[in-house]
Amino acid sequence: QTTINYQADSRGLKDFYKNYFSIGVAVGRRNLTGDEATLIKKQFNSVTAENAMKMASIQPREGHFNWKEADSIVSFAVKNGIKIRGHNLCWHEQAPDWMFIDANGKQASKELLLERLKTHIDAVVGRYKGKIYAWDVVNEAIDDDDTKFLRNSKWYQICGEDFIVKAFEYAHAADPEAKLYYNDYNTERPQKRVRIYKLLKNLKDKNVPIDGVGLQAHWSIYEPSKQELIDAIQQYSSLGLKIQFTELDMSIYPWEKEKRAKKAGETDTYTPDLEQKQIAQYKMVFDTFRKYKDVITNVTFWNISDRATWLDSYPVIGRKNYPLLFDTQLQPKKAYWEVVKFKAR
Ligand code: G3I
Repeated sequence: QTTINYQADSRGLKDFYKNYFSIGVAVGRRNLTGDEATLIKKQFNSVTAENAMKMASIQPREGHFNWKEADSIVSFAVKNGIKIRGHNLCWHEQAPDWMFIDANGKQASKELLLERLKTHIDAVVGRYKGKIYAWDVVNEAIDDDDTKFLRNSKWYQICGEDFIVKAFEYAHAADPEAKLYYNDYNTERPQKRVRIYKLLKNLKDKNVPIDGVGLQAHWSIYEPSKQELIDAIQQYSSLGLKIQFTELDMSIYPWEKEKRAKKAGETDTYTPDLEQKQIAQYKMVFDTFRKYKDVITNVTFWNISDRATWLDSYPVIGRKNYPLLFDTQLQPKKAYWEVVKFKAR
């Protein structure tokens, strides 16, 4: 389906998309050497730490900072002229237990929790000031239940909506140049979209320093639909916010069935039919992204290739998934050629 000789051609995704938006990938230290490092350098001009910059990784105990892996990702990126997205400063997962408990073993007060949040954000954003150009400041604060609004996390129980406002203010104070994002998943589902929009509008109305919204894009070959994607882009950007697709992958399984274990007889083979659906879905979303290049500033893949993806162990441990543009041998899949085959503007 293509006449381009991949090995001989020096172009990668980042080059095909240079007039549109930067193209990123989530990485860990394990990816920074060997054939994966070679692929990163050819294909991507942005990286995100998959786990290394989360609160529990950086500050596992109060005042004990662990910068090793985060630093190695930052220096790899700086050395290779790759931009860095920071992920993330405040999340209900991967938040260390000590954060929410005071010296007497009781639940921390709002004052104490916000003080700790500020200390953490000052340290992390401050350390990478001028190197990390954008941060996911608050991650996944909206409830999955369509009848609820904010997630009933420890952050919310102790601080109410204020933790979101404060996190953005602290991040802005620590690096006024960094672009600040609210990041979430299922952002194209109509009912969740309404709630996310409501939160973003609250923040804008309060003049909170927020620059954009991160749409994680943990999608599947069955969703979102083109219309859902367009509606999401249009509605969020109507607030004057930039949009980044921060964690893109395309599961070959339907998400709605994911919550339960694999049914007996259900295949986990990457059949030609599933691959065909995936090619069409990848083509649809990138065709749409290009139409909105004025508001979309980055598209990041969550992991490098089908060799190893977080979806191999979620939500069914040990069920192989094939959600990315490169195969287990790090070769471009047919979907890759669909994504780079367009008439550049
Ligand atoms: O570091 C420990 C290791 O010491 C231990 O031996 C091993 C045993 O299970 O676990 C390791 O921690 C795991 C960590 O990834 C690093 O590999 C955690 O169990 C595992 O839960 C964690 O999963 C990560 C998940 O976030 C939860 O933090 C995934 O790799 C990562 O891809 C995923 O990324 C999230 C985004 O941050 C936010 N959006 C959703 C996305 C997918 O869940």
